[in-house]
Formats: sequence, structure tokens, C-alpha cells
Amino acid sequence: MARILITSAIPYINGIKHLGNLIGSQLPADLYARYQRGRGNEVMFLCATDEHGTPAELAAAKAGKPVAEYCADMYAVQADIANRFGLSFDHFGRSSSEQNKVLTQHFAGKLDDAGLIREVSEKQVYSNTDGRFLPDRYIEGTCPNCGYERARGDQCENCTKQLDPTDLIEPRSAISGSTDLEVRETKHLYLRQSAMKDQLDAWIDSKADWPILTTSIAKKWLHDGDGLRDRGITRDLDWGVPVKKGDQDWPGMEGKVFYVWFDAPIEYIACAKEWADANGKTDADWERWWRTDKGADDVRYVQFMGKDNVPFHTLSFPATILGSGEPWKLVDHLKSFNYLNYDGGQFSTSQGRGVFMDQALELLPADYWRWWLLSHAPESSDSEFTWENFQQSVNKDLADVLGNFVSRITKFCRSKFTEAVPEGGSYGTREQALIEELTKRVRAYEGHMESMNVRKSAQELRAIWVAGNEYLQAAAPWSTFKEDPEQAAAQVRLGLNLIRLYAVLSAPFIPETSARMLSAMNTLDTSWPDDVAAALNALPAGHAFAVPDVLFAKITDEQREDWQTRFAGTRD
Ligand code: MF3
Ligand code: ZN
Repeated sequence: MARILITSAIPYINGIKHLGNLIGSQLPADLYARYQRGRGNEVMFLCATDEHGTPAELAAAKAGKPVAEYCADMYAVQADIANRFGLSFDHFGRSSSEQNKVLTQHFAGKLDDAGLIREVSEKQVYSNTDGRFLPDRYIEGTCPNCGYERARGDQCENCTKQLDPTDLIEPRSAISGSTDLEVRETKHLYLRQSAMKDQLDAWIDSKADWPILTTSIAKKWLHDGDGLRDRGITRDLDWGVPVKKGDQDWPGMEGKVFYVWFDAPIEYIACAKEWADANGKTDADWERWWRTDKGADDVRYVQFMGKDNVPFHTLSFPATILGSGEPWKLVDHLKSFNYLNYDGGQFSTSQGRGVFMDQALELLPADYWRWWLLSHAPESSDSEFTWENFQQSVNKDLADVLGNFVSRITKFCRSKFTEAVPEGGSYGTREQALIEELTKRVRAYEGHMESMNVRKSAQELRAIWVAGNEYLQAAAPWSTFKEDPEQAAAQVRLGLNLIRLYAVLSAPFIPETSARMLSAMNTLDTSWPDDVAAALNALPAGHAFAVPDVLFAKITDEQREDWQTRFAGTRD
């Protein structure tokens, strides 16, 4: 039994995620976790909300709530939706947890002990009215280049000129509009990533099996221009992990917090401790997943994320871990995704464009979305959601191919035999041929799942469903029954066993439907078909079952058009 640690990039707290976010990380991570559990491996699947940083502060202000309260509320909302989408996290944590605070401060202390932290003095704009430093993006004013009145401190949107906040004419706070601003000196901590360049380089070179796309992004950051830059890991904000060196105060850092990108990946580790604490486990129970000196040396660690997250996972987070000098587990395999677009444009959280997770579940059960999203995962390139394509996939793959197979064979059995697996006859050459084909396909499916080829896995699964339909069509038990009821009995027995086999193989994609299929077949046997022939004898003659309700309803043209119009604009 292998032990597999799986993390999904942790979604920002500020709002409900759209389907593009979902397929970019959490959903494929869930597919992989469910598959590995199905194979009998020990899995620890972790995710959390990413709660710090200015976006969280601003979203809270907009919602008119204190930021801690806003985060607690949004966490509950996100956790509920994740659950309803069937995301099978072993723990869904929060980067604002006490566990993450302690661990983040611990890492900072270790990095400082190793001489990898330096202090830098910077000039930054302070707003007297707001009582805080303002990040560049939160200062507005008139562009010195084109006169645009709403230029931001980092760039003018109108003429695209890169700016410094001090370039702006009549600068004001984007939070309060106040012009009572001054430039103040402030000190920050920088992580000396440049000093770790060779170590990171060698570590990436040791990853011969990583996709070129991933290593090339990492190498580009390591070697381009001035190479790997030192990185500011503190901010002048109220909301975040207070800057401390372990549990000691850090002189000069009073009132400052760590930068959100410093503490967010550390939450991957802290989340395991949250899991242990929440479930009455010991530190040893979570450390065996994360500490190579405490049992994690035989863990395989796989990370899932969108492509924009790759540098943080190949360089920044490994720099934190390697720099600590402690034996923490590093990522073994990293799976990244391109973007999913929405009907001719982009999904957009800020503009409310596209379909959001809560809305999707109001229209249809999770499995419909899971199947479409996974079978169209943006792997080798960006992909696009259109309502036509969604309708077609659901109606063909789910309703016509899988749903129809299940309904046909169970209803036929009920009408000609009883609601029990029929007795008599035996599997002949047609059945042998099917077993051979399925054996080949199941092995191919396993290969694609192992290597996290999401689309190819979906294609293979679909082909496995199709093979059953074709068998049924060719064997035609409804005709056989007239001359040779014994042979028809064997054909139906095989068909009913295929339903159980399909339920087991399909569970990672469509877990709810899979559970319904198993319950209709009245079995708890979810054993993986290592031997397809044996799997097709799992339900013996005489085993009672029930004809299930329709598994998938077709999407009508009317529904499609209605949804198309409803989701053409932006969310209010
Ligand atoms: N919240 C980030 C995003 O959605 C991802 C953070 S991943 C972690 O892009 F590594 F920082 F945890
Ligand atoms: Zn301008």
C-alpha cells in the first residue's frame, strides 16, 4: 500500500469560486485522491482557504464586516459548496488558523537562524486618515504621462505607463479617498532566495520526470535577467500572521504581518496538524505525512494548481522548506493547469462573469459538472465552456451511453427474469472478447490516472462505457431470450456485473452516481478490477438488485437557451 499526500492550491477567501477555479486545481486533485483511495492506497488530501492579504481586507470592508468575521463566514460557505461538489478533502483548513500562525513564525525563525533573512529599509506611502500604509495599488491619482485621473500607484490603466506612487499628481487613498498622505520609512524582511539559487537549481535538476512546462517555468525564474530575486516576506497590514521569530518578538517588526504568499503554502503543512487536532490524533499522526525523519520518506507528494501558481510551488515554497534546514517533505510531482474560458471570454470573479459553484449546483447535480469539467480539463492548452458543448456531453456521454446502459439492462432483467441476477448459461466467445477489450482499456485507464492525464482518463472511461453498450447491442439478449433463455441469462448476468464494474471505475469522476449504481446493485463490493474476468462474476446468480431511477436527465434545448441567457451577463 502506497502513501500519497495530495494538496490543491488553496482558494482565496474573497468570494465563491467559479468553475474555472474549480477545474484548475481542486477538482482534478479530488479525482486523483478518489482514484488512489479506490486502488487501496493510503491518501491524505488537504486543501484550505487562503485568508490573508489585502484582497481579504477589502472584500470584508465591502461586505461591511470585520475581516475575521468575514473570513469565518466565507470559510463556512466555501466548505459547504466544496462538500456539495463531492470534494473529498481529508481536511479543509484555514490559513488563518493558530496552527499556521505557529508554523509560519517557526519557519521565519529557522530561516533567520540560517542567515537567510535580511532587513531592508523602504519608503512607502502612509495614509494618516486610514492609519495604515497603502500598497501601490491602493493609491490613486492623476497620471503624469496622460492626465488620466484614476491612475493607480503601480500603473496607469489608460496609457499603461508603469508608475511609482510618488509619480502621481494629487495622490489619494483608494480606500478612503483621503489626500492626507505622507511618505514614511518602513523596514521589511527579505528572504535571500538568491543565496539558495544553486540548491534550488540542483533540486529541480533532480526532477527528471517533471513535465517540461513546469521545469522550464522554474528554470526561467532561476536564470533569467538577474536570476532569482530576494523576496519581501512582510507587509504593513493588520490582517495576517504577526511577524515573529518563532515565539520571540522581532525587534523593529512590531505591527507587521507576513506576506500572504509566505504563509499560504505553509498552510499545506499546518492543515495536516489542523486535521490531527480536529480528529483527536497526535502530532506523530500528521508528521508521518510531512517529516521525512518521522516516516514521510516513503510518502509520494503530489501538488495540483493553476499555471500562474507554478513559480510559487517550484521556487518560493521549496526555498522556505530547504532554507529551514529541517527535514520537511518536498513535492514529488506537480500537476498544473491552463485556464478554462467561458463562452467566448474569460471567467471573472471581479466582474462576476461565468458560472459560479453555487449557481452550478442550483441548476444540476455535481456529477454533471464534474464530468464535463474533467473531460474538458484545460491541460495542454486553455479550454472553453460553452452551453452547447455542455449539453452535448451530458446528453451523449452520461445519459445516452452510461445512463441508458444501466436502465436497459436492469429493466430487461426485471421484465424477463426477476429483480435478481439470473442463473444459467455461461460466458462464451463474445463475452471473452469483451473481457479482453475491457482488460486492455482498464489497464490504459489506470496508466492515465496514475500519470494524471485527466482528459485521457475520461476518454478511456467513456470508451469502457461504450464497450458495454456495444456488447449489449450485439448480444441482444431480448432476441436471444426467445430461442435460448439460458444464454440470455448469462448475457444479462454479465450486463449487471458491468454496472458494478462501471460504478467502481467511474467513482473518481461521478461519485454520487457511482454510489447510486452500487446501491441499486445492492452491493458494498467496491474492489478494484485487477482481474476483469473475476470482477464480472462478482455478483453471483440469485443476487437481488433494484432498478434505479433515471441516472441522468437530458438537458433540453429550452433549458440550454434559458441558462445561456441567464448567464450571459454578470452576477449581481
Ligand atoms: N490563493 C492562491 C490562488 O488562488 C493559491 C495559493 S496556493 C498556496 O491563486 F501555495 F499558496 F497555498
Ligand atoms: Zn497615463
